[in-house]
Amino acid sequence: MELLAKSKVLIDEATLDKRLDEIAEEINRDFAGEKVIVVGVLKGAFMFMSDLLKKIKLDTEVYFLKAESYGSGTEASGTVKITKDIECDIAGKNIIVVEDIIDSGYTMREVFKILDGRNPKSLKLCSCLSKPDRRECEIKIDYLGFEVPDKFVIGYGLDYAEKYRNLPYIGYIEQ
Ligand code: IMP
Ligand code: MG
Repeated sequence: MELLAKSKVLIDEATLDKRLDEIAEEINRDFAGEKVIVVGVLKGAFMFMSDLLKKIKLDTEVYFLKAESYGSGTEASGTVKITKDIECDIAGKNIIVVEDIIDSGYTMREVFKILDGRNPKSLKLCSCLSKPDRRECEIKIDYLGFEVPDKFVIGYGLDYAEKYRNLPYIGYIEQ
């Protein structure tokens, strides 16, 4: 837990909860009367997604996918593969992909290309966090929790070497 001692709180639980109320209200309004398929990106999105889902009042189905980037060198040259796919046909459906953080943007760009090819009725992105300073490709985030500075963040689903995902707040590691 040495690393935790060097971390600071960036977004506390109350602030997260309040922002989630706002995002859920927007989603509930945008999809009023419609069905939505919520697709969480493993593993990072699990906590944000479950808290958000409790506030969604729509006819909802929940799935998960896992995406991994391969290839050596820069992330730009790596390819993204879906290593665990969703178990449903999304053609003609409203899809909301829920992610923990958009960093370079490559993972979501590739995941969106794949999902878009399956002809959903609508395809939206909901991300808890975004690091705009790190972006390398253009990504439209339809529902965003918070923009964060270019620091390594942990907690609320986000890990450092698979640890700290269980923290109920978002912290950052002092470099
Ligand atoms: P991207 O393809 O560069 O946008 O990668 C985004 C993925 O990298 C996220 O889904 C996270 O899993 C991971 N990631 C990026 N920044 C952080 C961070 O500060 N803390 C923990 N994970 C991060
Ligand atoms: Mg992730």
